[in-house]
Amino acid sequence: MLFGRKKIQTEAPMPQGLIDLHCHILAGVDDGARDDEAMFDLIRLEYSCGVRHICFTPHFNPALFTPKPDKIAESFEKAKRFAEENFEGLSVSLGNEVFIRPDTVDRLREGACRPLGGTKTVLAEFHPTTSVQDIRMNTVKLLSNGFSPLIAHIERYDRLCEPEDIYELKSLGAKLQINTAAFFGDRKKLIFKLVEQGAIDVVADDRHNRERGEPNLGVCYNFVDQKFGRRAADALFIHRPMSILNISA
Ligand SMILES: [Fe+2]
Repeated sequence: MLFGRKKIQTEAPMPQGLIDLHCHILAGVDDGARDDEAMFDLIRLEYSCGVRHICFTPHFNPALFTPKPDKIAESFEKAKRFAEENFEGLSVSLGNEVFIRPDTVDRLREGACRPLGGTKTVLAEFHPTTSVQDIRMNTVKLLSNGFSPLIAHIERYDRLCEPEDIYELKSLGAKLQINTAAFFGDRKKLIFKLVEQGAIDVVADDRHNRERGEPNLGVCYNFVDQKFGRRAADALFIHRPMSILNISA
């Protein structure tokens, strides 16, 4: 498989028991799967890659997507039934990828958007040009209101490129998620360093469709296993996401 100009090893057997807690697979609720067939196809793909729990995280960003709670509930029930009836050992849960705005805590409290699964962890997305100060301030705000931020795809924020700023977010209590594509992008040296130092909590593929071509979780697990070792791969793809979702094997 080619991603950018990097050849990725795909011959290794697919791992098992991976956890995906950031994806846009539910049908017709955001810019992810367009319809039920696309949704079912992506669930099949996840299972074939070794994923055994999917937390669906449709965007909650009222500036771009009109919130559709009824449609989300309907799609989630279809996805859950499809998973249970067709794939042994595959479980699912529901959350949102929440675009952080001044009213986010109020929206979380009233249930307009939701943390991951039944937890208090919020998959928090910021605008790509958001300042480090804004990310820091909102991290503290979420924590002081009883929520735990998991900052989505930290490689995407233009201003968040100094390791000391990233470590400060960790020291405040934020958890950090990267996309599989981050290992092969412009900031891969920084990402490698953060992974080596144990600063990254979760890898997810932020899957919207098949066409975008990012490495799937199974391929990326094998890449991390080869480059950083089995312990790092298990932590990033299995143990830490399970801990965040408060689920067991
Ligand atoms: Fe996303």
